[in-house]
Amino acid sequence: MNQKEKQKDGELMEKIVSLCKRRGIIYQGSEIYGGLAGTWDYGPLGLALKNNIKNLWWKKFVTDREDMYGVDAAILMNQNVWKATGHVGGFSDPLVECPKCKNRFREDHVEVSSKDGLRHCPKDDQILGLARQFNMMFKTSVGAIESDDSVSYLRPETAQGMFVNYKNIIDSFHPKLPFGMAQIGKAFRNEIAPRDFIFRSREFEQMEIEYLVKPVGWEDTFEHFRKEMLDWTKEIGLKEEHVHEVEISEADRAFYSKRTIDFEFDFPFGQSELYGLAYRTDYDLSRHSQSSGTDLIYLDEETTNPEERKLIPHCIEPSFGVDRTVLAVLSDAYTEDRMNDEVRAYLKFAPIVAPVKVAVFPLLKNKPVLVEKAREVFVHLKKEFGAVMFDDNGNVGKRYRRQDEIGTPFCVTVDFDTIEKDDTVTVRDRDTGTQERVAVKELAGYLKTKLN
Ligand code: GAP
Repeated sequence: MNQKEKQKDGELMEKIVSLCKRRGIIYQGSEIYGGLAGTWDYGPLGLALKNNIKNLWWKKFVTDREDMYGVDAAILMNQNVWKATGHVGGFSDPLVECPKCKNRFREDHVEVSSKDGLRHCPKDDQILGLARQFNMMFKTSVGAIESDDSVSYLRPETAQGMFVNYKNIIDSFHPKLPFGMAQIGKAFRNEIAPRDFIFRSREFEQMEIEYLVKPVGWEDTFEHFRKEMLDWTKEIGLKEEHVHEVEISEADRAFYSKRTIDFEFDFPFGQSELYGLAYRTDYDLSRHSQSSGTDLIYLDEETTNPEERKLIPHCIEPSFGVDRTVLAVLSDAYTEDRMNDEVRAYLKFAPIVAPVKVAVFPLLKNKPVLVEKAREVFVHLKKEFGAVMFDDNGNVGKRYRRQDEIGTPFCVTVDFDTIEKDDTVTVRDRDTGTQERVAVKELAGYLKTKLN
């Protein structure tokens, strides 16, 4: 990427961040106190966008299937969970410090200088010191007395909340392999360098599946989820050409993984990881079985081969970051064009994720007859679509611009013709700006077809 392209992409990111703040999508965490690095608060519209994404994901990967068991595990877990998985000893990033300005960086985020083959401080060009490993888990203490036994960690991934419930699911539901456990929830990592808006934060959400299989034939399940993950990116409106599959080499994979694919996305700051799909073998369940002393063996009653009767299930893990999904959706939706001789910036959301589906306006705010009819239409559509907004602030042009900015696919205006002539309203399309007259009694059906 040349300097000009970098600047343009930096500007795009700034525009997205500023639109998000202006329109109540995402705010800096603890903003009135100067913020807290790596934390973000979702406003009403950002929350609606995020909830749409989570609900669609849950529907596709859990409720629409027969082989998934949803869980919602506690964020605080027994410290031995993280000792067993190796997180206490090894969930770390290489940290380097500038001897002069004392700023700290992730070693692999600082380029090696072509002058001397060393890493220099990006702030004052001093040669950086040797890297030391920095554990990214947030440590806390549970209970009134602080001791080694009271140590706990905010979970750095939702995955382990599922593995520790494997036996509970087996005992309560008796599922046969293959089956999956799914969870959506918060994860916390004390990132050395949170960056790029909600791309890398210290508190974020994940949507994860631990899909348990017999070791023979894991490749078919891996392939199934690879396709499902790609389909998902299309379903939420990401542009196909912006999603890339990257096969992770053995040298770069976690030691227990036999295959990993990263799904990368063309974010405004460059191509970076959006999701991951990993074959984690029987690593997690084996470690928990050994460490906890609980028998996590699965009895395969379908086999006649005594050697295959007892096994620790293997795991295929599709892992999705919620906030990275939100950022990818925002970046692909952000559009600038010219409309009515003005530059217009708007969010071209796929209707399925749009926080507001339809906005309803009375043409004039000070005409009770229009307001009354518009509210009637609004209540009717709200029953049908839920996410409908009533807006009577400023002139209609301003309302259109406001709705375009938050990505509302359709605006409905009640005017004098509605009342005096034929009970029709104007429906305006966000993307083209074209307007059509539609009878009120056909409005819900018309919008339903368009939104689908
Ligand atoms: N259980 C596997 C796991 O946690 P990961 O690649 O470390 O794997 C999975 O994380 C996903 O979580 C990533 O693909 C990304 O979407 C999201 N993610 C990871 N770290 C993040 C961070 N600091 N901020 C926002 N999202 C993050």
